[in-house]
Amino acid sequence: MSALVIKDLHVSCSGKQILKGVDLTINPGEVHALMGPNGSGKSTLSCAIAGNPNYVIEKGDILLDGKSILKMTPDERAKAGLFLAFQHPLEIPGVNLGSFLFTLFKQRFPKATHVTFQREVNEALKQVGLPQGFLERSLNVGLSGGEKKRVEILQLLLLKPSFAVLDETDSGLDIDSLQAVSKAVNSMKSDRFGVLVITHYNRILEYIRPDHVHVLIEGKVAMSGDAGLPKALECKGYSWLKPEAVDA
Ligand SMILES: Nc1ncnc2c1ncn2[C@@H]1O[C@H](COP(=O)(O)OP(=O)(O)OP(=O)(O)O)[C@@H](O)[C@H]1O
Ligand SMILES: [Mg+2]
Repeated sequence: MSALVIKDLHVSCSGKQILKGVDLTINPGEVHALMGPNGSGKSTLSCAIAGNPNYVIEKGDILLDGKSILKMTPDERAKAGLFLAFQHPLEIPGVNLGSFLFTLFKQRFPKATHVTFQREVNEALKQVGLPQGFLERSLNVGLSGGEKKRVEILQLLLLKPSFAVLDETDSGLDIDSLQAVSKAVNSMKSDRFGVLVITHYNRILEYIRPDHVHVLIEGKVAMSGDAGLPKALECKGYSWLKPEAVDA
């Protein structure tokens, strides 16, 4: 099994260039964190990895297990083992969470039975601290911000992807939820799983210790470091990493 490799990625949206040459390699077994100012392109990167057609790849490539995924549909990417937890999970009225999860589960594990699904979903619900009744609710409709994030992690636990991108899954979580979510992500850690945690805060990284931390500034990785980097950023902010500061 090989890595998720992002090579010289240039992405535009609505005619505006957002990513301007991003290089990133996440090997199985590794936890990477991506930080950076609002609007620097972090969610754009996750949308490009997911295959959102609004985000146009102008140049570069995204490789999974050595193969380009650019021509794959979002569904094919998910089947290949990619998982994206969105910063703003979609609300879909009329789509029951339980049926939605079963559809995703069958796509990922075509031979799995409903009994297996039921067992695994109950286990995952316990891990993220959501009651079984949630399966009867419409997808994300009327859920609190924190509950939506827990539902994203529920999907992660159920689908057991080989690579996951978690876009601000920690935002808006109370202390107990943050711990539950971090514990769930940590339970996924193995040499067959790689994860990119997009976050603004060091707190989740104290629970999910990253092997590498990257800072995205104006569409480029301006700096990479170890788990100590977020603390330094909390003290210094981002301004010193901006291109004009570096040029000066
Ligand atoms: N669909 C879109 N249409 C137009 N502009 C977009 C679109 N998506 C993103 N952008 C622009 O691209 C830039 C990067 O946005 P992005 O959401 O990737 O930032 P981010 O780093 O995730 O920020 P945040 O930390 O606030 O979540 C912003 O200037 C944003 O307005
Ligand atoms: Mg974002």
